[in-house]
Amino acid sequence: MHDVAPINPWVALAYLVAGVFFILALRGLSSPASSRRGNRFGMAGMAIAVVTTLLTHELANPIEVIGAIGIGAVIGIVMARRIAMTAMPQLVAAFHSLVGLAAVAVAAAAYLNPGAFGIADAAGQIFTVSRVEMGLGIAIGAITFSGSVIAFLKLNGNMSGAPIILPLRHVINLGTLAAIIGLVAYFTFDQSPWVFWTVTALSFVIGFLLIIPIGGADMPVVVSMLNSYSGWAAAAMGFTLHNTAMIITGALVGSSGAILSYIMCRAMNRSFLSVIAGGFGADASAGAGGAKEQRPWKPGSADDAAFLMSQAENVIIVPGYGMAVAQAQHALREMADLLKKEGVNVKYAIHPVAGRMPGHMNVLLAEANVPYDEVFELEDINGEFAQCDVAFVIGANDVTNPAAKTDKSSPIYGMPVLDVEKAKTVLFVKRSMGGVGYAGVDNDVFYMDQTMMLLGDAKKMADDIVKALNGGGH
Ligand code: TAP
Repeated sequence: MHDVAPINPWVALAYLVAGVFFILALRGLSSPASSRRGNRFGMAGMAIAVVTTLLTHELANPIEVIGAIGIGAVIGIVMARRIAMTAMPQLVAAFHSLVGLAAVAVAAAAYLNPGAFGIADAAGQIFTVSRVEMGLGIAIGAITFSGSVIAFLKLNGNMSGAPIILPLRHVINLGTLAAIIGLVAYFTFDQSPWVFWTVTALSFVIGFLLIIPIGGADMPVVVSMLNSYSGWAAAAMGFTLHNTAMIITGALVGSSGAILSYIMCRAMNRSFLSVIAGGFGADASAGAGGAKEQRPWKPGSADDAAFLMSQAENVIIVPGYGMAVAQAQHALREMADLLKKEGVNVKYAIHPVAGRMPGHMNVLLAEANVPYDEVFELEDINGEFAQCDVAFVIGANDVTNPAAKTDKSSPIYGMPVLDVEKAKTVLFVKRSMGGVGYAGVDNDVFYMDQTMMLLGDAKKMADDIVKALNGGGH
């Protein structure tokens, strides 16, 4: 065993406090009501970790370090202020690519100058345990980097979101993965540059190969999976740098990302393995856009909707992706406020994958100051549709589709859905009968006797209903 410099107890304590703050941050982020507090804990934890690291390390060039932090902070602030809510997934993908690249840079620096990192003996031989950490850090970091770049390009529309399926991809991927694992193992015996750089190159390639076959529908799962990888890469580098704050943070990010991926897969009825193996989105979209039947449906107007809802005792609002696109949340809140004034009991039902990212609806409703106690998760409200007078579906589709419960051939079969069809009246806001949801399938609810289709842009329709409720008609 090699000697590791004893850790200063004050540094260990500061890192521990930072770790506790990160855990409190995750706890806070689990609910919209406490998410701001969670963010503050995270910022405080990171400030403690960064300041402790800066104060307890000899900086070769403090100006450069502080300059780099300053430039990064300015870029971060400008991006966070400018970013549109709908562009959040690609921003997150871009951030993950940077974490991956940072892990690669740290591993490369440690490899090129192991003495400076205290991970080599006098003859320059890197300790075995450090080689393992370094090999894992560089492999996971490089996979995270190239995978996140592809995820960014797909989500940002610079690259087709459709899955790109290479012939023999499973053979190529498994072969490349096996080569990486074999070389990381071999690196513990032989620290020659060719081993290190081949692992790096193959890992960049496999990140790219793993993500290109993944279709749009599975992209958010991929982003959260890459989030998890970036955490493990940071944890591996934390071992190399003997930095407990990095190990704790990396493990928290790694495990929370993995748990989120798993929850999203379950909510979308996807198997985790099939998402990772790639190309699953291809199967889903293959079932999409099938010939649509011409069935009778009932059109309605904003006035009809205003009348029906003002007469109701209970109204459940089901928002979806279309509400986000139309930015209808403020008009919707106004509509709900007017209904509440008339004595109507209004609740919001949120499906875990409504919209295009986890928590998408919660964030928008919070932005419009919808009270948290009116917002309910699927499992808490699904039993109430049978007793409600009006289900007001605005820009949601797949998350209300009963085919998920009955039609085994449907791409969304098995996904838990909101039982809107059980309501006495369903008001369905969407732009046209031709438009489909994410999964590209028709929805039987449009054609039910108790359904009234309110065709139009979600914001315009909500505004018109507000006018009608105010007695102005439109
Ligand atoms: P979708 O099924 O995608 O349906 C959106 C509906 O909104 C469509 O019917 C569309 O019809 C309508 N719409 C679009 N723009 C509109 C506008 N400006 N005004 C009014 N209506 C508009 O949405 P959902 O029910 O929220 O389901 C989400 C889907 O995305 C699920 O399939 C889920 O698996 C998938 N997904 C979710 C996530 C996460 S994590 N949330 C991630 C990836 C994929 P028109 O075109 O006729 O208007």
